[in-house]
Amino acid sequence: MSTEIYYFSGTGNSLVVARDIAGKTDGKLISIPSVMNNYSITTDADVIGIVFPVYHAVFDGMPLIISRFVRKMENIDSKYIFAVCTCKGWSRVTISKLGEIITSRGGKLSAGFTVRMPDNSNPTTIEEQQKLFDNWKKKLEIIYHYVNARKKGIGRRFKKHGMSWTAKRANNVLKLRTL
Ligand SMILES: Cc1cc2nc3c(=O)[nH]c(=O)nc-3n(C[C@H](O)[C@H](O)[C@H](O)COP(=O)(O)O)c2cc1C
Repeated sequence: MSTEIYYFSGTGNSLVVARDIAGKTDGKLISIPSVMNNYSITTDADVIGIVFPVYHAVFDGMPLIISRFVRKMENIDSKYIFAVCTCKGWSRVTISKLGEIITSRGGKLSAGFTVRMPDNSNPTTIEEQQKLFDNWKKKLEIIYHYVNARKKGIGRRFKKHGMSWTAKRANNVLKLRTL
């Protein structure tokens, strides 16, 4: 059983999240830009994590490199795939849109998580940032146990962090989990 954590990060939030998940799961940390010149992405890993920041949730929320990366994935039908997106608080349909692309490649997004991190375009105070980082450490444990048990679908409804109604609905429909 092996795990690979693919990540893209503009300013470091998603790198921290990806690095922590890789550490916890004993997974291999792989930068998405470093594999983008490959014609296709194939792997022997049984578990694949995809970590990235939300960009423009008003649209599909994904940085272009993420949709391009997923469209290069091959032979993913038997993999356990999970995704973690970091954002300032509004991910809307990001996870469900990612799920659609994974489905179009013959795979399945088994679990999706949204993690609040500092907004990189409108910095908050050091204290507020520290709170988010402390919160992340707790969420890491939840994600780890969820993924380690290869859980699929929703465990609990998300209950905090001010997700919008649309995000709740989209995630609920897909039975994904937002933290
Ligand atoms: C171009 C751009 C668009 C963004 N759009 C959103 C958004 O729609 N919703 C949101 O919650 N955060 C948004 N953010 C904030 C980032 O998702 C957030 O700060 C993320 O944690 C940054 O991760 P990174 O440091 O790995 O790049 C945006 C940031 C950028 C640079």
